[in-house]
Amino acid sequence: MADKAATLTYDNKSIELPVLEGSVGPEVIDIRKLYGQTGAFTYDPGYKSTASCESALTYIDGDEGVLLHRGYPIGQLAEHSSFMEVSYLLLNGELPSKQELDDFSYTISRHTMLHEQLMTFYRGFRRDAHPMAIMCGVVGALSAFYHDSTDISDPEQRKIASHRLIAKMPTIAAMAYKYAVGQPFLYPDNSLSYTGNFLRMTFGVPAEPYEVNPVVEKAMDRIFILHADHEQNASTSTVRLAGSSGANPFACIAAGIACLWGPAHGGANEAALNMLREIGTPDRIPHYIERAKDKNDPFRLMGFGHRVYKNYDPRATVMQKTVREVFESLKVTDPLFETALQLEELALNDPYFIEKKLFPNVDFYSGIILSAIGFPTTMFTALFALARTVGWVAQWNEMISDPGQVIGRPRQLYTGPTERDYVPLGQR
Ligand code: SDX
Repeated sequence: MADKAATLTYDNKSIELPVLEGSVGPEVIDIRKLYGQTGAFTYDPGYKSTASCESALTYIDGDEGVLLHRGYPIGQLAEHSSFMEVSYLLLNGELPSKQELDDFSYTISRHTMLHEQLMTFYRGFRRDAHPMAIMCGVVGALSAFYHDSTDISDPEQRKIASHRLIAKMPTIAAMAYKYAVGQPFLYPDNSLSYTGNFLRMTFGVPAEPYEVNPVVEKAMDRIFILHADHEQNASTSTVRLAGSSGANPFACIAAGIACLWGPAHGGANEAALNMLREIGTPDRIPHYIERAKDKNDPFRLMGFGHRVYKNYDPRATVMQKTVREVFESLKVTDPLFETALQLEELALNDPYFIEKKLFPNVDFYSGIILSAIGFPTTMFTALFALARTVGWVAQWNEMISDPGQVIGRPRQLYTGPTERDYVPLGQR
């Protein structure tokens, strides 16, 4: 029982609401009994002041620009860990031993192939289908093929479904790219790392051997780490809400992919690079900053701003550093990187952005690296979905294994017509 309480006075009545404390971060006022005690709902469109659940996975301090996965800072994980190790950490709560990591990586590698009939799904799409449309369709279709891992009440089936989703996302995403460019699909090569396998399935061709570039592999693996999980963001909340009805895990992740596609969310990485290409050269930046500030102009700086971070997104810091490392190592450059750096510099010194606490987020620099590696912008959000699958799956497992879990069913403030009688057509 909470030893702290908040007192609410409403309609000449006072009620005590328990205050719950986490391990770190804001306390919460438990309003689960509010409607029963007052007959009133709370009202929080966009959930700006609402904690939807209890979780032990990821902690964000938006004011300080802190991001922890099971307590480990994202900067340390990006520097020292691997995507497979971070995936194990998110799923199991602790960093693995070498044996545990080897066993986990081996298990994942044994689920990388897709059922052969799923290949025909791709042929049903137009060649110019957006990869996210393909991801939504193919991931949702997995529930038609893997019936032996859709019983969410069985922890073993939940584990197999989780491993299948993490393992098959690179194959599905690589095939979406291959289909778009009209090249043959490559089967997974389990002698490669998780990320190396993805790069080969994407950029390799049957006609010649493909050498995984270790610099690109490390950068890609780090990008996956940066996108792995992020508290109760829109797509994770979608997965949780879908899962709360008892829907199978493949359907829940397909719902998360659909939500992530939006330009206000995961679609921002594609929109940010398209914006940088539209701006082009640094001399055009002031015009676009003025547009972003103009309330009558729908234009926004894509890759800027965040619901939670009112400081620099720590993932953007690592992303910018990775751009420099990749460019230096590959001896490449991109004038848009200079444009992005100058755009950041001008925006962060502009009163509008300072007052509204708008900083670059994870999507601002990611497109520059992904483009340098060879991905078309249409693949950027599919890569985000690939990496975020482990976060969605870990959040889904955390929810489903909570014995107190109930279906999510928000209420509303109704402002429509009150009851009235039907008017026959002849009398209207
Ligand atoms: C991701 O939630 C997560 O954790 C998401 C994510 C994850 O890992 O899952 O971090 C990934 O989605 C990152 C965000 C990617 N989206 C973009 O980069 C799109 C551009 N950014 C915005 O659309 C916006 O900043 C949001 C959607 C990210 C956040 O929106 P909020 O919290 O609802 O804030 P808001 O829209 O109410 O903006 C507050 C003010 C507004 O001005 P006023 O109405 O108060 O005058 O800031 C302005 C906005 O107009 N503003 C911007 C802006 N973002 C906000 N003005 C110009 N350019 C921007 N980018």
